Amino acid sequence: MATADGAAAGGAGGRWRIERLSGGPLGAEVHGVRLSPGMDAAEIAELRRLWLAHGVLFFRDQEHLGPAEFLGFARRFGEVVEYPFVKGLDGFPEITPVVKREGERRNFGGVWHSDTAYLERPPMATLLIARELPPAGGDTMFADMYAAYEALSPGLRRTLEGLRALNSSRKADASATREDRMRDSGTGRAEVLEAEHPVVRTHPETGRRALYVNIGHTVRFAGWTEEESRPLLDYLFRHLTQPEFTCRFRWRPGSVAFWDNRCTQHYPLNDYHGHRRVMHRVTLAGDRPR
Ligand code: SIN
Repeated sequence: MATADGAAAGGAGGRWRIERLSGGPLGAEVHGVRLSPGMDAAEIAELRRLWLAHGVLFFRDQEHLGPAEFLGFARRFGEVVEYPFVKGLDGFPEITPVVKREGERRNFGGVWHSDTAYLERPPMATLLIARELPPAGGDTMFADMYAAYEALSPGLRRTLEGLRALNSSRKADASATREDRMRDSGTGRAEVLEAEHPVVRTHPETGRRALYVNIGHTVRFAGWTEEESRPLLDYLFRHLTQPEFTCRFRWRPGSVAFWDNRCTQHYPLNDYHGHRRVMHRVTLAGDRPR
Protein backbone atom coordinates (compact mmCIF):
# COMPACT_ATOMS: atom_id res chain seq x y z
CA MET A 1 0.00 0.00 0.00
CA ALA A 2 2.62 2.43 -1.14
CA THR A 3 0.45 5.21 -2.50
CA ALA A 4 -2.89 6.73 -1.69
CA ASP A 5 -4.74 7.00 -4.99
CA GLY A 6 -7.30 9.79 -5.02
CA ALA A 7 -10.90 8.59 -4.89
CA ALA A 8 -11.49 9.79 -8.42
CA ALA A 9 -8.25 8.55 -9.98
CA GLY A 10 -9.28 6.18 -12.74
CA GLY A 11 -7.53 3.11 -14.10
CA ALA A 12 -7.79 1.68 -17.62
CA GLY A 13 -7.66 5.01 -19.39
CA GLY A 14 -10.01 6.67 -16.92
CA ARG A 15 -12.87 4.17 -17.41
CA TRP A 16 -12.56 2.81 -13.88
CA ARG A 17 -13.39 4.75 -10.75
CA ILE A 18 -11.42 3.97 -7.58
CA GLU A 19 -13.21 4.39 -4.26
CA ARG A 20 -11.15 4.00 -1.11
CA LEU A 21 -12.63 2.10 1.84
CA SER A 22 -10.54 3.62 4.62
CA GLY A 23 -8.68 6.81 5.47
CA GLY A 24 -5.41 5.03 4.78
CA PRO A 25 -4.45 3.22 1.61
CA LEU A 26 -6.00 -0.13 2.68
CA GLY A 27 -8.90 -1.31 0.53
CA ALA A 28 -10.29 0.12 -2.69
CA GLU A 29 -13.39 -0.64 -4.68
CA VAL A 30 -12.84 -0.56 -8.43
CA HIS A 31 -16.00 0.53 -10.24
CA GLY A 32 -16.72 0.14 -13.93
CA VAL A 33 -14.67 -3.00 -14.56
CA ARG A 34 -15.96 -6.33 -15.89
CA LEU A 35 -13.50 -8.99 -14.73
CA SER A 36 -12.72 -11.76 -17.19
CA PRO A 37 -9.90 -14.13 -18.17
CA GLY A 38 -9.59 -12.24 -21.45
CA MET A 39 -8.82 -8.76 -20.04
CA ASP A 40 -5.96 -7.15 -21.91
CA ALA A 41 -2.45 -7.03 -20.49
CA ALA A 42 -2.59 -3.30 -19.74
CA GLU A 43 -5.77 -3.76 -17.67
CA ILE A 44 -4.23 -6.65 -15.71
CA ALA A 45 -1.09 -4.56 -15.09
CA GLU A 46 -3.24 -1.68 -13.86
CA LEU A 47 -5.19 -3.98 -11.52
CA ARG A 48 -1.92 -5.32 -10.16
CA ARG A 49 -0.63 -1.79 -9.55
CA LEU A 50 -3.84 -0.88 -7.70
CA TRP A 51 -3.75 -4.13 -5.74
CA LEU A 52 -0.17 -3.50 -4.57
CA ALA A 53 -1.13 0.05 -3.60
CA HIS A 54 -4.26 -0.92 -1.62
CA GLY A 55 -3.64 -4.47 -0.36
CA VAL A 56 -7.20 -5.54 -1.16
CA LEU A 57 -9.41 -4.67 -4.12
CA PHE A 58 -13.18 -5.11 -4.32
CA PHE A 59 -15.40 -5.42 -7.39
CA ARG A 60 -19.21 -5.45 -7.61
CA ASP A 61 -21.57 -7.24 -9.99
CA GLN A 62 -19.28 -10.00 -11.23
CA GLU A 63 -21.98 -12.76 -11.28
CA HIS A 64 -20.96 -13.57 -14.86
CA LEU A 65 -17.79 -15.17 -13.44
CA GLY A 66 -18.75 -18.85 -13.28
CA PRO A 67 -16.16 -21.24 -11.80
CA ALA A 68 -14.15 -21.59 -15.05
CA GLU A 69 -14.07 -17.82 -15.64
CA PHE A 70 -13.26 -17.11 -12.00
CA LEU A 71 -10.27 -19.47 -12.21
CA GLY A 72 -9.26 -18.05 -15.58
CA PHE A 73 -9.28 -14.50 -14.20
CA ALA A 74 -7.28 -15.57 -11.11
CA ARG A 75 -4.67 -17.24 -13.34
CA ARG A 76 -3.88 -13.87 -14.93
CA PHE A 77 -2.17 -12.98 -11.60
CA GLY A 78 -0.39 -16.20 -10.70
CA GLU A 79 -0.46 -19.96 -10.30
CA VAL A 80 -3.60 -21.33 -8.65
CA VAL A 81 -3.00 -23.65 -5.66
CA GLU A 82 -5.40 -25.97 -3.79
CA TYR A 83 -6.37 -25.46 -0.14
CA PRO A 84 -4.96 -28.38 1.90
CA PHE A 85 -7.90 -29.20 4.19
CA VAL A 86 -11.18 -28.90 2.26
CA LYS A 87 -12.15 -30.59 -0.98
CA GLY A 88 -12.76 -28.21 -3.88
CA LEU A 89 -15.87 -27.96 -6.06
CA ASP A 90 -16.68 -30.93 -8.27
CA GLY A 91 -14.76 -30.42 -11.49
CA PHE A 92 -12.88 -27.44 -10.02
CA PRO A 93 -10.62 -28.76 -7.24
CA GLU A 94 -8.82 -25.41 -7.01
CA ILE A 95 -12.02 -23.63 -5.94
CA THR A 96 -12.72 -24.01 -2.23
CA PRO A 97 -16.35 -23.60 -1.17
CA VAL A 98 -16.49 -21.34 1.89
CA VAL A 99 -19.89 -22.15 3.32
CA LYS A 100 -21.84 -21.57 6.51
CA ARG A 101 -25.23 -23.29 6.59
CA GLU A 102 -28.38 -22.16 8.34
CA GLY A 103 -27.91 -24.59 11.26
CA GLU A 104 -24.18 -24.03 11.79
CA ARG A 105 -22.53 -21.82 14.41
CA ARG A 106 -18.93 -21.61 13.17
CA ASN A 107 -17.80 -19.75 10.09
CA PHE A 108 -14.82 -20.84 8.01
CA GLY A 109 -11.66 -18.86 8.88
CA GLY A 110 -13.51 -16.94 11.61
CA VAL A 111 -10.44 -15.50 13.35
CA TRP A 112 -8.04 -12.76 12.19
CA HIS A 113 -5.48 -14.43 9.94
CA SER A 114 -3.35 -14.40 6.84
CA ASP A 115 -4.21 -17.44 4.73
CA THR A 116 -2.42 -20.74 5.49
CA ALA A 117 0.63 -19.11 7.08
CA TYR A 118 1.53 -22.63 8.26
CA LEU A 119 2.75 -23.53 4.75
CA GLU A 120 6.42 -23.13 3.76
CA ARG A 121 5.18 -21.01 0.85
CA PRO A 122 1.91 -19.40 1.93
CA PRO A 123 -0.32 -18.10 -0.85
CA MET A 124 0.49 -14.69 -2.27
CA ALA A 125 -3.16 -13.86 -2.85
CA THR A 126 -6.74 -14.96 -2.33
CA LEU A 127 -9.78 -14.21 -4.48
CA LEU A 128 -13.25 -14.65 -3.03
CA ILE A 129 -16.56 -14.31 -4.85
CA ALA A 130 -19.92 -14.11 -3.07
CA ARG A 131 -22.53 -16.59 -4.35
CA GLU A 132 -25.20 -16.58 -1.57
CA LEU A 133 -25.41 -14.15 1.32
CA PRO A 134 -27.40 -13.68 4.50
CA PRO A 135 -29.95 -10.83 4.44
CA ALA A 136 -27.54 -8.78 6.58
CA GLY A 137 -24.14 -9.38 8.19
CA GLY A 138 -21.33 -11.66 7.06
CA ASP A 139 -19.04 -8.73 6.20
CA THR A 140 -15.29 -9.30 6.01
CA MET A 141 -12.74 -7.04 7.71
CA PHE A 142 -9.19 -6.49 6.50
CA ALA A 143 -6.14 -5.09 8.32
CA ASP A 144 -3.03 -3.40 6.92
CA MET A 145 0.16 -5.10 8.13
CA TYR A 146 2.44 -2.37 6.75
CA ALA A 147 0.62 0.19 8.88
CA ALA A 148 0.70 -2.13 11.90
CA TYR A 149 4.47 -2.57 11.54
CA GLU A 150 5.16 1.12 10.95
CA ALA A 151 3.15 2.13 14.04
CA LEU A 152 5.44 0.14 16.38
CA SER A 153 8.19 1.96 18.28
CA PRO A 154 11.67 1.82 16.71
CA GLY A 155 12.79 -0.27 19.72
CA LEU A 156 10.15 -2.96 19.28
CA ARG A 157 10.68 -2.97 15.51
CA ARG A 158 14.39 -3.65 16.10
CA THR A 159 13.57 -6.51 18.50
CA LEU A 160 11.11 -8.11 16.08
CA GLU A 161 13.45 -7.83 13.06
CA GLY A 162 15.58 -10.68 14.37
CA LEU A 163 12.72 -13.02 15.28
CA ARG A 164 11.06 -15.89 13.50
CA ALA A 165 7.78 -17.53 14.54
CA LEU A 166 6.22 -20.96 14.27
CA ASN A 167 2.87 -21.06 12.44
CA SER A 168 0.71 -24.15 12.80
CA SER A 169 -2.55 -25.47 11.37
CA ARG A 170 -3.36 -26.93 14.78
CA LYS A 171 -4.20 -23.71 16.67
CA ALA A 172 -7.54 -24.51 18.24
CA ASP A 173 -9.64 -21.49 17.24
CA ALA A 174 -8.62 -21.61 13.60
CA SER A 175 -8.83 -25.39 13.23
CA ALA A 176 -12.36 -25.38 14.74
CA THR A 177 -13.48 -22.94 12.03
CA ARG A 178 -12.72 -25.47 9.28
CA GLU A 179 -14.15 -28.60 10.98
CA ASP A 180 -17.66 -28.41 9.43
CA ARG A 181 -16.18 -28.12 5.94
CA MET A 182 -13.66 -30.93 6.54
CA ARG A 183 -16.55 -33.18 7.55
CA ASP A 184 -18.35 -32.35 4.28
CA SER A 185 -15.21 -33.12 2.33
CA GLY A 186 -14.80 -36.47 4.04
CA THR A 187 -11.13 -35.57 4.18
CA GLY A 188 -10.88 -35.36 7.97
CA ARG A 189 -7.21 -34.67 7.36
CA ALA A 190 -5.54 -34.99 10.76
CA GLU A 191 -2.11 -33.92 9.53
CA VAL A 192 -0.61 -30.88 11.21
CA LEU A 193 1.17 -28.44 8.89
CA GLU A 194 3.79 -26.12 10.38
CA ALA A 195 6.26 -23.56 9.09
CA GLU A 196 8.61 -21.02 10.60
CA HIS A 197 8.56 -17.53 9.09
CA PRO A 198 10.08 -14.13 9.91
CA VAL A 199 7.92 -12.04 12.25
CA VAL A 200 8.51 -9.06 9.98
CA ARG A 201 8.60 -9.90 6.28
CA THR A 202 9.69 -7.89 3.28
CA HIS A 203 7.09 -7.75 0.55
CA PRO A 204 8.80 -9.15 -2.57
CA GLU A 205 7.10 -6.69 -4.94
CA THR A 206 6.90 -3.44 -2.96
CA GLY A 207 10.02 -3.94 -0.81
CA ARG A 208 8.06 -2.73 2.25
CA ARG A 209 8.18 -4.33 5.71
CA ALA A 210 5.01 -5.89 7.15
CA LEU A 211 4.13 -7.70 10.38
CA TYR A 212 3.66 -11.41 9.70
CA VAL A 213 2.22 -13.03 12.84
CA ASN A 214 -1.48 -13.83 13.16
CA ILE A 215 -3.72 -15.06 15.96
CA GLY A 216 -5.15 -17.84 13.80
CA HIS A 217 -1.86 -19.64 13.19
CA THR A 218 1.14 -18.20 15.07
CA VAL A 219 2.01 -20.36 18.07
CA ARG A 220 5.35 -19.07 19.42
CA PHE A 221 8.62 -17.40 18.51
CA ALA A 222 11.28 -19.77 17.21
CA GLY A 223 13.56 -20.82 20.07
CA TRP A 224 11.07 -19.52 22.69
CA THR A 225 8.49 -21.54 24.64
CA GLU A 226 4.78 -20.86 24.10
CA GLU A 227 4.59 -19.42 27.62
CA GLU A 228 7.49 -17.05 26.96
CA SER A 229 6.05 -16.01 23.62
CA ARG A 230 2.48 -15.39 24.77
CA PRO A 231 2.77 -11.85 26.27
CA LEU A 232 4.51 -10.36 23.23
CA LEU A 233 2.37 -12.28 20.74
CA ASP A 234 -0.80 -11.23 22.54
CA TYR A 235 0.39 -7.63 22.40
CA LEU A 236 1.02 -7.91 18.64
CA PHE A 237 -2.32 -9.65 17.98
CA ARG A 238 -4.14 -6.78 19.76
CA HIS A 239 -1.99 -4.16 18.06
CA LEU A 240 -2.38 -5.35 14.50
CA THR A 241 -6.18 -5.25 14.37
CA GLN A 242 -6.65 -1.73 15.75
CA PRO A 243 -9.59 -0.14 13.94
CA GLU A 244 -7.31 2.49 12.34
CA PHE A 245 -5.50 -0.26 10.41
CA THR A 246 -8.69 -1.85 9.08
CA CYS A 247 -11.43 -1.58 6.49
CA ARG A 248 -14.71 -3.49 6.25
CA PHE A 249 -16.40 -4.84 3.15
CA ARG A 250 -20.14 -5.40 2.87
CA TRP A 251 -20.76 -8.14 0.33
CA ARG A 252 -23.46 -8.34 -2.32
CA PRO A 253 -24.02 -11.42 -4.51
CA GLY A 254 -21.41 -11.30 -7.27
CA SER A 255 -18.95 -9.14 -5.27
CA VAL A 256 -15.30 -10.15 -5.53
CA ALA A 257 -12.48 -9.44 -3.06
CA PHE A 258 -8.85 -9.91 -4.09
CA TRP A 259 -6.36 -9.61 -1.22
CA ASP A 260 -2.61 -9.77 -0.71
CA ASN A 261 -1.74 -12.23 2.07
CA ARG A 262 1.80 -10.81 2.33
CA CYS A 263 0.69 -7.49 3.79
CA THR A 264 -2.92 -7.88 4.99
CA GLN A 265 -4.96 -10.04 7.36
CA HIS A 266 -8.70 -10.61 7.27
CA TYR A 267 -11.57 -11.57 9.54
CA PRO A 268 -14.99 -12.76 8.34
CA LEU A 269 -17.68 -11.69 10.84
CA ASN A 270 -19.87 -14.43 12.26
CA ASP A 271 -22.99 -12.34 12.98
CA TYR A 272 -25.63 -14.07 10.82
CA HIS A 273 -26.60 -17.31 12.61
CA GLY A 274 -29.64 -18.99 11.06
CA HIS A 275 -28.72 -17.86 7.54
CA ARG A 276 -26.66 -19.32 4.76
CA ARG A 277 -23.50 -17.78 3.24
CA VAL A 278 -21.72 -19.35 0.26
CA MET A 279 -18.48 -18.01 -1.22
CA HIS A 280 -15.99 -19.48 -3.68
CA ARG A 281 -12.30 -19.04 -2.96
CA VAL A 282 -9.15 -19.36 -5.02
CA THR A 283 -5.58 -18.90 -3.78
CA LEU A 284 -2.45 -18.05 -5.78
CA ALA A 285 1.00 -19.50 -5.07
CA GLY A 286 3.37 -17.40 -3.01
CA ASP A 287 7.06 -17.44 -2.18
CA ARG A 288 8.91 -18.26 1.03
CA PRO A 289 8.52 -15.21 3.32
CA ARG A 290 11.83 -13.31 3.86
C1 SIN B 1 -11.41 -16.81 4.38
O1 SIN B 1 -10.75 -16.64 5.39
O2 SIN B 1 -10.89 -17.19 3.33
C2 SIN B 1 -12.90 -16.55 4.38
C3 SIN B 1 -13.22 -15.10 4.24
C4 SIN B 1 -14.71 -14.84 4.21
O3 SIN B 1 -15.50 -15.79 4.27
O4 SIN B 1 -15.11 -13.68 4.12
